[in-house]
Amino acid sequence: MLKLEHVSYQVSEGEQTLSILNDINLVVEDGQLIVITGPNGGGKTTLAKVIMGLVTPTSGSITYNGTDITNLGITERAKLGISYGFQQPPRFKGLRVRDLLELASGEDKLSREKCCLYLTRVGLCADDYVDREVDASLSGGEVKRIEIATILARQSGLMIFDEPEAGIDLWSFSRLIDTFQSIRQQRNNTLLIISHQERIISLADEILLVADGQIQQHGSKDDVFPFILSNTVTGCRFMNERADA
Ligand SMILES: Nc1ncnc2c1ncn2[C@@H]1O[C@H](COP(=O)(O)OP(=O)(O)OP(=O)(O)O)[C@@H](O)[C@H]1O
Ligand SMILES: [Mg+2]
Repeated sequence: MLKLEHVSYQVSEGEQTLSILNDINLVVEDGQLIVITGPNGGGKTTLAKVIMGLVTPTSGSITYNGTDITNLGITERAKLGISYGFQQPPRFKGLRVRDLLELASGEDKLSREKCCLYLTRVGLCADDYVDREVDASLSGGEVKRIEIATILARQSGLMIFDEPEAGIDLWSFSRLIDTFQSIRQQRNNTLLIISHQERIISLADEILLVADGQIQQHGSKDDVFPFILSNTVTGCRFMNERADA
């Protein structure tokens, strides 16, 4: 179980203090598929990074399976079974796809069959990719799918995906949906998926709506989805206020 209590994250910008996350309280039970959605700049990625240890909260605490991980680094959290796929994944010049999968899986020598299994789950053919370097020669969608495959290979207890749909073609996206669905059915891993995509949102056991650094809504699809659809007014706050006047 993942538990966040009163988690806040503030940054100083000149004289100003910006509140990026504001008093986040959240419990995620094992085996759940939770989708975090909300407007751009609402704080979703920051929340994921706080859970992964890439960002240290200004206050509050995080526990994972009873261990206080608030002050642990990324590597320690990874060892405890948390993994995170970046919204914009990095490239690793000099490392091949098979090396990344091998590192992620923790196996000394990952067989071609297993590489193929993980790559197929994100719609890639192992023959075309397994020996390629994860460098600038790969397209954005290819890098994104390779990163998702490495997270699947890691088989962490808690997998966090940041907009897995971004840049991914329709065919691979359908494959990815099937993959998420089958992980959810097995209930061995907890999935926290940041997404704007309706098909991913509709897989969720629970939906979190994060906006202005806060959890604005948290509940079942049936509770939260109608709220999302009825609150699609976005844009400039000042213009909206003027329109309301
Ligand atoms: N270190 C920082 N310094 C200043 N502002 C920051 C910092 N980190 C995040 N922010 C701001 O905090 C807000 C939340 O950012 P975050 O990346 O978490 O949003 P998001 O919900 O993931 O958005 P998107 O849907 O566009 O990916 C944004 O306005 C961002 O500019
Ligand atoms: Mg983001």
